Amino acid sequence: MLVGILQDIQAEYHYLPREALEEVHRGLGIPLTQVYSVATFFKAFGLTPKGRHIMDVCLGTACHVRGAVRILERIERELGIKAGETTKDLKFTLGTVNCVGTCALGPMVIVDGQYAGQMNTDKVKPLLESYD
Ligand code: FES
Repeated sequence: MLVGILQDIQAEYHYLPREALEEVHRGLGIPLTQVYSVATFFKAFGLTPKGRHIMDVCLGTACHVRGAVRILERIERELGIKAGETTKDLKFTLGTVNCVGTCALGPMVIVDGQYAGQMNTDKVKPLLESYD
């Protein structure tokens, strides 16, 4: 039940706010340490605010040899953040993944689950600007 509740909170806020975890602790009578233990165990949960858009650059081998690192660096420069970080305006959270199974279309960038294939550095800015 705890995991399901945390999933609902994560879906609502895109992360697990401390206040919400304390409310879960009080509401369910579960020790706060146990709530945090579950919240930090699963990679799907985050304790820091995420952006409205989750952007991942594939750094798997096929994408890497086609220039994925250059694309990641361009995105980092455009957004002013590094992989693993979120923009101050909470618009984007940038991450990396290792192969999403569409190697033939690489380099791949995935935004909110939508795949943008055959990426190159010239396509980065238009891609970023296409999101509100
Ligand atoms: S290595 Fe990027 S999709 Fe497979």
